[in-house]
Amino acid sequence: MKGNRKTVTKTKIIDVRKIEKVFTLHERNSIQVTGFSDVSFSVNRGELLALTGVSGVGKSSILKAIYRTYLVNAGEILFYRSDKSVVDLATCGESRILQLRKREIGFVTQFLKVLPRISALQAVAAPLVETGVAEQESLCQAAKLLNMLGIREELFNISPLTFSGGEQQRVNIARGVIAPKDLILLDEPTASLDEQSSERVLTLLADMKEKGIALIGIFHDRKKIERVADKTYEISRKNTDKSFQDIREVA
Ligand SMILES: Nc1ncnc2c1ncn2[C@@H]1O[C@H](COP(=O)(O)OP(=O)(O)OP(=O)(O)O)[C@@H](O)[C@H]1O
Ligand SMILES: [Mg+2]
Repeated sequence: MKGNRKTVTKTKIIDVRKIEKVFTLHERNSIQVTGFSDVSFSVNRGELLALTGVSGVGKSSILKAIYRTYLVNAGEILFYRSDKSVVDLATCGESRILQLRKREIGFVTQFLKVLPRISALQAVAAPLVETGVAEQESLCQAAKLLNMLGIREELFNISPLTFSGGEQQRVNIARGVIAPKDLILLDEPTASLDEQSSERVLTLLADMKEKGIALIGIFHDRKKIERVADKTYEISRKNTDKSFQDIREVA
């Protein structure tokens, strides 16, 4: 048996070290709101890290900090590229970020944003066309992905803006994962999906891990986490509220 065992070498892709985000609300007398603080974790290629924690604790903000929609106030976000160079996503220049977003780091947001009059198939194929893949081939891959996610073929040529919430969410996932990436961030990818559709998404995520893609996803459901996550990082209220005392610690 020993001889058959696959040797898995873990290669780190991201190292998040003690990051903190404080929002200053300029239009509100510069009130300060902590998004999160003292957050540290790392992820290897081919792994899925599940971020968990109660509402408002900073989960989405952490993904946005990695994707650099938000700039952190403190800490490092070291991204290990396949050419062995290392980039600190917390401090690197904007042009480097834009370059990384093209081929290396993807973000599946919670809601689909597409232009009207673009079909579901075109909306999903677009990110692949942008990387230089021929349109026909991109549409073909988009159809495969939509099929896998359980979207009926009769919807393919219709604008996804008319779709149900769960259908839009699946189109959004297909659009977010169609172009090759090394690290993909997913904000509640199964939030409004029934069991069967969730299962399809989880299978897709498992396939991506097999290909060596690293994933950081926000999940609430323990069963789903157990099904796909290699590790879990729980953001606690201590990460947003410094005066917060965990009642379990007090007892
Ligand atoms: N752009 C912003 N400006 C000001 N405050 C913000 C901003 N983005 C997030 N926050 C604050 O940061 C905190 C964390 O928000 P975040 O959206 O990251 O929480 P979450 O853990 O994703 O919650 P949920 O589970 O409800 O989605 C909240 O208190 C929120 O009000
Ligand atoms: Mg959120």
